[in-house]
Amino acid sequence: MKAFTLASLSLLGAVTAQQVGKEQTENHPKLSWQTCTGTGGSSCQTKQASIVLDSNWRWVHVTSGYTNCYTDNTWNTTSCPDGATCAKNCAVDGADYSGTYGITTSGNALTLKFVTKGSYSTNIGSRTYLMESDTKYQLFNVIGKEFTFDVDVSKLPCGLNGALYFVEMPADGGINKGNNKAGAKYGTGYCDAQCPHDIKWIEGAANSEGWTPSENDKNAGSGKYGACCPEMDVWEANSVASAYTPHPCSKNGLTKCSGTECGDGDERYSGTCDKDGCDLNPYRMGNTDFYGPGATIDTTKKFTVVTQFIGSGTKLQEIKRFWVQNGKTYATPETTFSEIGGNSITDAWCEKQKTHFGDNNHFKQIGGLAKMGESLARGHVLVMSLWDDHAVNMLWLDSTYPTDADPSKPGIARGTCPTDSGKPEDVETNAPDSQVTFSNIKFGPIGSTFKAL
Ligand SMILES: *[C@@H]1O[C@H](CO)[C@@H](O)[C@H](O)[C@H]1NC(C)=O
Repeated sequence: MKAFTLASLSLLGAVTAQQVGKEQTENHPKLSWQTCTGTGGSSCQTKQASIVLDSNWRWVHVTSGYTNCYTDNTWNTTSCPDGATCAKNCAVDGADYSGTYGITTSGNALTLKFVTKGSYSTNIGSRTYLMESDTKYQLFNVIGKEFTFDVDVSKLPCGLNGALYFVEMPADGGINKGNNKAGAKYGTGYCDAQCPHDIKWIEGAANSEGWTPSENDKNAGSGKYGACCPEMDVWEANSVASAYTPHPCSKNGLTKCSGTECGDGDERYSGTCDKDGCDLNPYRMGNTDFYGPGATIDTTKKFTVVTQFIGSGTKLQEIKRFWVQNGKTYATPETTFSEIGGNSITDAWCEKQKTHFGDNNHFKQIGGLAKMGESLARGHVLVMSLWDDHAVNMLWLDSTYPTDADPSKPGIARGTCPTDSGKPEDVETNAPDSQVTFSNIKFGPIGSTFKAL
């Protein structure tokens, strides 16, 4: 869930931190979605809404002019001697969604293009949020509900991830916290269970302290602070592999971390968030011909993904997945490992999976589905993004991982991508026209959004 880009535009006019820039008017692309009642997806009402681009991708310049506060992967130390001052001196600006970022919408469909060559810069991937109004993200409480969407992953090769997921970020983007005057309208307040350090603005301050440019990403870097919050990955996928994964955290909502609580490196299992999560990837569960080009779910064509969050109140018991393609509904196949069994995520299933695969059960230690449920009940923001992976080339999703492990050992093989695939420099060069389309989002009580088996 990282990856981003750019911004050394030049020649445009000025503003107010994370003030608000006025060089480019912010017009949120329209996206409609539906809320359903009844059964079988026949009784749904359309909501006219919009999406917003995350602030990390935006041009950051001084409030008084065009000078960049952040260029490529470094902060200007004159405007940004420290995080708070930086947020006072600098503005995030509006976005040219299609021209600069390759983001387009049409009716109920959102398309994110991978590489977009604009007049001033080349953009890689993007991250967007569904809005309730021009200044607030839409909050979802999915417990006891069903969330359904169509996806076209046909143009997503090995190494890319077209992701749709929920995070417990603030609905107003944290506006008026610290020096944040931009808020949700400009896509501020992101956090996830990896406690990312590449977030440029956290709680109204620039993350400029200790900022280290990335070694292999000319647009990114990492600051002293990480932005942690619980995350429910509904969909992380390309045309080869897919997974859904709850990632609870011990703390509520967005928390700015530093040191051990971020769970970096060797301290992975000492942080406040469950970075591994409890994942269900059909291929990894032994169902190697269920998902892929020409497979049962044929990823050369569009299909429907249904996710049911079984439970009530703040209690989440089970996360189930159904699939629909060519008018036919499919349950997720039962895992082929008899030691694990089942075809959906429950605490008991996660325990068996982690034991059989020899994985650390940090998920359980943080509180498992109960902890995830408490977070979901507080409301989550819907994220749709497209990214490549500068850390481990997405091999955890679509290949043999760890790459030096025996792929015949349970849990190691996750997809058919080669272990040397997915390098950002390769995919950015060889597959710049990659894209994902999410469409036809429907939300309602269990059974209301699609025709069951
Ligand atoms: C840094 O910002 C100062 C003040 O706005 C400006 O004069 C200077 O040219 C900037 N430096 C770079 C390298 O952009």
